[in-house]
Amino acid sequence: MTSAPSLQPVSSTAGPPEPDLVRIRDQIYRVAGIFHPDTKLRLLRDRCGRRMKELKVQTLREYFECLTSRPIRQAEMIALLNEITVGETCFFRNQPQLEALRRIVIPNILQVKSTFPLRRLRIWSAGCSTGEEPYTLRMLLLEEAASQLKDWTVEILATDLNERSLAHATAAVYDNHSTRNLTPLYRQKYFHPFGAQLQVNPAARAHVSFSRLNLSDDASMTLMKSMDAIFCCNVLIYFDLASKRRVIRHFFNNLLPHGYLFLGHSESLYGVSEDFRLVHLPGATAYVKGKGAPEGGKAI
Ligand SMILES: C[S@@+](CC[C@H](N)C(=O)[O-])C[C@H]1O[C@@H](n2cnc3c(N)ncnc32)[C@H](O)[C@@H]1O
Repeated sequence: MTSAPSLQPVSSTAGPPEPDLVRIRDQIYRVAGIFHPDTKLRLLRDRCGRRMKELKVQTLREYFECLTSRPIRQAEMIALLNEITVGETCFFRNQPQLEALRRIVIPNILQVKSTFPLRRLRIWSAGCSTGEEPYTLRMLLLEEAASQLKDWTVEILATDLNERSLAHATAAVYDNHSTRNLTPLYRQKYFHPFGAQLQVNPAARAHVSFSRLNLSDDASMTLMKSMDAIFCCNVLIYFDLASKRRVIRHFFNNLLPHGYLFLGHSESLYGVSEDFRLVHLPGATAYVKGKGAPEGGKAI
């Protein structure tokens, strides 16, 4: 694992950070690439506090030992990461991006793959949180199942670090906040009532698989091969530059030569990687492999 960028506490108006909290921050960075700047240490302190209460641990020093040297260390790090990585998401979060996928990117990929013996599309939702993003992708592609995707198999691999989010994703039950962007057509076609909430129906759940994957775990990352598209939206915000570079390098290796990488609305690879070329799509951007001038627009 990468070493933390700074092990030195930086003083703030509230006084210097507690040294044991800084050690915990650095341990989280080593394991998951997630970096808490000094301005976020109070939040981290709260999250550790929840776990310490659960474990009946009194001091940060003792809690650091739980994370590093006691037999529970692996389980406790997973539990702490569950507290830290609660991700905001919803169905159809970035509509122009999804429209571009359907109208431009999928036709392009299918054209390139028309000579391939296997008619298979593999899409990875990396940092899928509670599952709204991969299910959205599945529904969108189901809308194309009778036309451009006729006779094609679609696989959607959805991964996250947070076990609680993944359990939610597998149950596929969502409240009004998550489903606020659904059109009546999608609501009626791909969901059924589940108490006061909605559950994704079996057709839209088929071919979507969830698993725990740490984007900072190099060994796991090398297993995610042969992707036609990777969605890693609103995830890189957790990482510092060094962690971002490692993750993006893996995405480069995991994408097929014609593959597309999608990031969140306000994210870019500027200063992170020069291995990708920015592509401007109507209302959205994506990245493809290759250096040089971007298609249809200026580089960022
Ligand atoms: C804001 S959510 C994004 C959800 C979805 N992609 C979207 O855009 O709506 C960010 C997700 O990144 C996940 N995440 C953060 N660090 C991670 C890591 N090292 N490995 C895997 N997932 C991570 C969090 O658990 C969280 O679910």
